[in-house]
Amino acid sequence: MIFVVAVILFFIIFCIFDIITPDKYPVGPKRFPLFGSYLEIRKLRKKLVFYHLVWDHLAQQFGQVFSVKLGRIEAVVVSGYDAVRQVLCKDDFDGRPDGFFFRFRAFYKRLGIVFVDGPVWTEQRKFCMQHLRKMGLGGDLMERLISEEVNDLMLDIKKRSNNGNKQIEVYGLFDVSVLNGLWTMLAGQRFNLYDAKLAKLMELVHVSFRMLDMSGGILNQMPFIRYLAPKCSGYRDIEHILNEFYSFLRGSVEEHKHEVSDEDDLICAFLKEIEKNKESTKSFSEEQLLVLLLDLFLAGSETTGSTLSFVVLHLLRHQDVQAKVHAELDAMVGDREVLLSDKNKLTYLEATLMEVQRHSNVAPLAIAHRTVRKTSLQEYIIPNNTLILASIWSVHMDKQHWGDPETFRPERFLDGSGKIINDSWFIPFGIGRRRCLGEVLAKTNVFMFVAKLLQNFELRVPNGVQLPTNHQEGVTISPSPFSALFIPRRHHLHNHQNNKI
Ligand code: HEM
Repeated sequence: MIFVVAVILFFIIFCIFDIITPDKYPVGPKRFPLFGSYLEIRKLRKKLVFYHLVWDHLAQQFGQVFSVKLGRIEAVVVSGYDAVRQVLCKDDFDGRPDGFFFRFRAFYKRLGIVFVDGPVWTEQRKFCMQHLRKMGLGGDLMERLISEEVNDLMLDIKKRSNNGNKQIEVYGLFDVSVLNGLWTMLAGQRFNLYDAKLAKLMELVHVSFRMLDMSGGILNQMPFIRYLAPKCSGYRDIEHILNEFYSFLRGSVEEHKHEVSDEDDLICAFLKEIEKNKESTKSFSEEQLLVLLLDLFLAGSETTGSTLSFVVLHLLRHQDVQAKVHAELDAMVGDREVLLSDKNKLTYLEATLMEVQRHSNVAPLAIAHRTVRKTSLQEYIIPNNTLILASIWSVHMDKQHWGDPETFRPERFLDGSGKIINDSWFIPFGIGRRRCLGEVLAKTNVFMFVAKLLQNFELRVPNGVQLPTNHQEGVTISPSPFSALFIPRRHHLHNHQNNKI
């Protein structure tokens, strides 16, 4: 009897503590013991589909900084330029969330680069930047690598499009080519455009990005759900996807171990670092290498591929913009090969790419951050270990700043003399210490792919085809599948043969 009373009492106390919030903590939707605001968020998600729209809806009700209990996770959602900037730039918010899902994907440890913080993150980020630079990041070698990938893809599109008569599916079109640039730096290896193993992996990337969200999904919010509903909760699928990935990555690492090579790709450099640091407490281990590769593979492929698909979608929708890009390319580059150094001259193209990133918001909520100590944000006190979701979308779509954020208008990034306006409200790669590690690579990829694509092709909507207006939700946003006609631009055809494009 005493035992039963004690259990009931304990449960009541647990329930009270589970829903009370500290002093000066932001308000938010009603929370319930165990499940937090899960049911309300689920209802809103059904209606609004996208998480960033759910957060926008709640921000209108509770303010630009509000709290929400996501199952077991205490979170604060931040919108608007000032609050988002503060969160992304202040060290107190530099952590990444911990929790079941983040450990599940990393051998039940805190490994990799995206979901670690503290000394491990500092060491791994420094290592990655040094070695990616050594492998050409930001230099001529990277330009050459990407150029070759783009040229290969242009040839393929030309062949497959049958002189512009056959439509081509755009979703996934850039997958292998984009990944090849990155994978060459990481593993010194590239794949054939039709490599079946890679196609399967990329499909798994797409699936996993659609299954999850920035908080780690239901598995992180209510880890016990994996016992109750291993299939419906996505636990089984994620387990399968991780197994496939790690088996591929392990294969690559093993190949490197047996290769005697002077090549210093990232895997080689990392293996040498493991040897060097065998006796030390440094964060170099084989499991760390595998999760680091997984992080870079995932962070680098889906984001860039989706951005490129959005560029095509916008140029199909806005033929006037496409015509201006064509005119600029013809005037500034003509028939010769496009170079990375042309970027400064192709300002209308650059403004178009910026507008695509602003309007499409491929990473609308950055990557979740976490407070590493008790801190303040505006008039609020945020406890240590709070998950922070910063809405980049809210900054990119702010009506007061942009005037007409819903309108696709590249000119907003150009001044009266046609020069690029570097607007501090444009933050597709985040800002601060945790900003995107692959920004230079992503920008080069997007520029080179689009410039060469538009130099060589006119993009048209196939007869009778409706362009999608609904996008796909997940960790990042990508357009729903659609196809396009790639019409060779006549005056470049001669040049294609000379330049093998
Ligand atoms: C258009 C393409 C891309 C976009 C829009 C993008 C966007 C972002 C954003 C918004 C963040 C989060 C910043 C934050 O949490 O504060 C991020 C982080 C990151 N990105 Fe990218 N990214 C792109 C391409 C890439 C590429 C190509 C790589 C590959 C090297 C990459 C690797 C990373 C990594 C490793 C992080 C985590 C950095 C850290 O936690 O220290 N990204 N990216």
